[in-house]
Amino acid sequence: MKPSWQVWRDRRGRFSALRIGALALLLLPVAKALINVGDIVHGARPLNDMIHRAGFWALVFLGLTLAVTPFRRIARYGNLIDVRRMLGVGAFCYIATHLALFTADQSYDLGKVVHEISHRVYLIIGATAWLGLATLAATSTDGMVRRLGGQRWRRLHQAIYAIALLALIHYFQQTKADVTVPTFAASLFFWLIAYRLLAWWKNTSELSTLSLIALSVTVSILTFIGEAVGIGIAFHVSPLRVLDVAFDFGAGIRPGWQALVAGLGVVAVDAVRARLDSRAARSRAVAAE
Ligand code: HEM
Repeated sequence: MKPSWQVWRDRRGRFSALRIGALALLLLPVAKALINVGDIVHGARPLNDMIHRAGFWALVFLGLTLAVTPFRRIARYGNLIDVRRMLGVGAFCYIATHLALFTADQSYDLGKVVHEISHRVYLIIGATAWLGLATLAATSTDGMVRRLGGQRWRRLHQAIYAIALLALIHYFQQTKADVTVPTFAASLFFWLIAYRLLAWWKNTSELSTLSLIALSVTVSILTFIGEAVGIGIAFHVSPLRVLDVAFDFGAGIRPGWQALVAGLGVVAVDAVRARLDSRAARSRAVAAE
């Protein structure tokens, strides 16, 4: 048995390139912050800058955790499941840092922290997501899986979808002006959840390339509509005028296009894998003759 802190080794205790890669990915934001330490320290609000960085990366790793199941099926790379727990716990580490930095920003006055959180809706929502993630991280050990039983554990961990939704609402609410990145993040989360719903509805674990194309195009269209309606309501302008800007690429690439490119990227991975699989099957058949 390998010591549980040696996360770079697989269950059999061997060095795992996949785990080392995931660990490096999880440490990348720390390295980036260290490289930018001069800018952070000399910025207007260093602690606030770091709160934003930690919150952003927590959301990224939460998204990657949710992406493991669809992507391992699409890329036919089952081993990817080996790093799902690591990514999820990594997301929690960033979110724990996010709250610790927020506490530091309130001069470590816990009374003030509680007062601030309880008086702002976006912080109440963030805190609910925080508690949810803490619960999932605390029950992520093998011992807890055994204690809770597989089915109860799985049901509890399905809360990750609700947590992701709360985290996205928190992200949107704290964004003051440009919602391009939160909208793109929301569309990716929506794609991941819609993938699961479609697979469940079709009673299959693998969606066809055609279904993936339909899913990606639908998510892209809904992102355009969602953004147009959202901006329309927030700034009292016609959503049609917002949609007009979608084709003005000089004004930036709208999240709907970004979602389409991301979705079609996944479709390309699926198509390449399917081609490689059929080629391998053909060579096996020839060898067997
Ligand atoms: C007790 C829990 C939480 C507190 C007190 C908190 C607090 C904050 C604060 C103060 C900001 C900056 C707002 C501003 O500058 O106006 C922020 C931003 C953010 N938070 Fe949280 N948060 C919490 C939970 C979460 C959770 C659970 C997530 C995601 C998993 C999250 C993700 C984010 C993101 C993505 C941002 C924006 C980052 C960016 O600008 O790129 N937060 N949060």
